[in-house]
Amino acid sequence: MQTSRLSQRQSGLPAELSSLVGRAAEIPAVFECLRTARVVTLTGPGGCGKTRLALRVAVLAEPGFGNGARLVELAPLTDPALVPASVAQALDVSERDMTTPTAGLARALADREVLVVLDNCEHVLEAAAGLVAELVAQCPRVRFLATSRERLDVPGEMVFPVPPLGLPEGASVRAVAASEAGTLFVTRARAASPAFALTDGDAAAIAEMCSRLDGMPLAIELAAARCPVLGPVQLAARLEGHPGLLSGGAARPERHRSLEALVSWSYDLLDEAEQRLLARLSVLRGRFDLEVAERVLGSEPLAPEAVVGLLASLAGKSLVQVQAGPVVRYWLLETVRQFAAGRLAASGEETAVHTWLLEWALEVARSADDALTSAERAGWSDRLTAGQASIRAALFWAFGGQEPEAGRELAARLARWWIATSRYSEAGQFLTTAASLPAPADPGLQARVLIGAAWSAFHLSDIRRAAPLAADGIACSQRAGEPQLEVGGRNLLARPGLARGRRGPDCRRNRSQPGYIRPGRSGSRGAGPGTAGRCGLLVGRPGRAGTAWPARDRARPDGVGPGRARPCADHMGNVRARRSGHPTCHSGRAR
Ligand SMILES: Nc1ncnc2c1ncn2[C@@H]1O[C@H](COP(=O)(O)OP(=O)(O)OP(=O)(O)O)[C@@H](O)[C@H]1O
Ligand SMILES: [Mg+2]
Repeated sequence: MQTSRLSQRQSGLPAELSSLVGRAAEIPAVFECLRTARVVTLTGPGGCGKTRLALRVAVLAEPGFGNGARLVELAPLTDPALVPASVAQALDVSERDMTTPTAGLARALADREVLVVLDNCEHVLEAAAGLVAELVAQCPRVRFLATSRERLDVPGEMVFPVPPLGLPEGASVRAVAASEAGTLFVTRARAASPAFALTDGDAAAIAEMCSRLDGMPLAIELAAARCPVLGPVQLAARLEGHPGLLSGGAARPERHRSLEALVSWSYDLLDEAEQRLLARLSVLRGRFDLEVAERVLGSEPLAPEAVVGLLASLAGKSLVQVQAGPVVRYWLLETVRQFAAGRLAASGEETAVHTWLLEWALEVARSADDALTSAERAGWSDRLTAGQASIRAALFWAFGGQEPEAGRELAARLARWWIATSRYSEAGQFLTTAASLPAPADPGLQARVLIGAAWSAFHLSDIRRAAPLAADGIACSQRAGEPQLEVGGRNLLARPGLARGRRGPDCRRNRSQPGYIRPGRSGSRGAGPGTAGRCGLLVGRPGRAGTAWPARDRARPDGVGPGRARPCADHMGNVRARRSGHPTCHSGRAR
């Protein structure tokens, strides 16, 4: 039985973290489906190997697509409305100037030849299906490979039910080694315990376990991960008594039941601290690093310092996935996360853990909001990007009735970043909710909400809403004494077409328009250092122009990140030169 692992290569898809076992028949079959159909959906219960199969096929098919292949992970999404924006982000399509994200995507992908892997569609099925149907109709060279527990049900879809791994045909070493399920067990047992060897004495127990676990890869991995402490015979004996895994033949439970039982069995074997951490981990979405896990989840009775050991222990039991790198990242497979979420709900800790998540998100967003006008903006933007799935979950929880005020502050603090990074749908959704709450005591927060909402409305072509939001936002910024925000609002209002409530050439940036604050590029990307400098000019304190200098010094030649500050800082230099003699303008370093 073959196991393989593709090496790291130039690809829009993630590298495989462990060897792939078998699937010799399925890989060419799905590949073929993809040749004939423009939408192929791999279906099957949680943990049956849909994602692994999809990614392997996508890697093989990628060279045939001029613009490559991209993975869109939908599992971390809590709101179907954000499906188009998530796809746009994964495909590097800016939401700028879109009537709707779907229409914008269709326009951007009209000429692209790309394979889009849509992973875990089941919980946003309708939204994913709607988007796929529209893009297939409008973008002739785009194909979709979706994974879902249910089919998408779109025209032209080809459904490929992912079968379980092949079971041993017999109880001998040979039969186990020749089967997919047996090979997966042995490979993972050896990874967990290098001394593990497949012997005559163990073969029958392994064959029996594979069959009890219905050839479900996730269940087999979880069982094999126990090999350092339990031999296959002991393991099989323990599984024997576990509810849900008992019956065989006609009474065999459905595959998802045996998986659920196995996840629950693995959970029951954890010690109390591991169980508690696993349950708490269910609130973190997407991939997270140790720092976030410690900060959010390391509360009584778990000490933050204990989290790293517990994570390693859960990873060793295949309950947590690990991606090595300069910053190691962790995540839960969706099946495990859902199980863990159920345990969290039963533990009585759910509200507390969500509150910690919200507190962490607020802390990061407040720091980032301040730092986004400094030379540290790229680092903070990267941190927000890395944590965005969990931050979104915190927003949903807050606005879902638990902590609307905190949700409003979180949205307000993220507004600048959302707009600067063209996350307009997300900004629009959360800031609109925030704006609908009674106004807060702090006008600075309201200004962030309103001006962010105005820009997102503008970019999503909801022009009629943009102007009044910007005007209200400017009034709030003035009350709050926050000139940077005011600049953002003014530059929006200075687009002449705005007042007429329609988009067109006259809505473009017009440098000669009265009220417009002369642009550095960051003026169109939120309030960067250049904007901070321009604010100084706006409010008659041109010395603020000096804030652009540190960023100018750190500017990268490729124009990425702080490099965006380069033209702004240069511009400020010009301003300073023009106004030479102005005492505060000399507060920046000499050129
Ligand atoms: N053929 C295979 N060889 C090796 N490992 C596999 C194989 N298929 C699946 N696995 C492993 O089993 C686990 C579950 O697989 P995967 O995540 O692909 O399941 P899934 O059907 O996508 O589940 P979900 O519905 O929860 O998203 C993963 O750890 C995966 O690496
Ligand atoms: Mg999956």
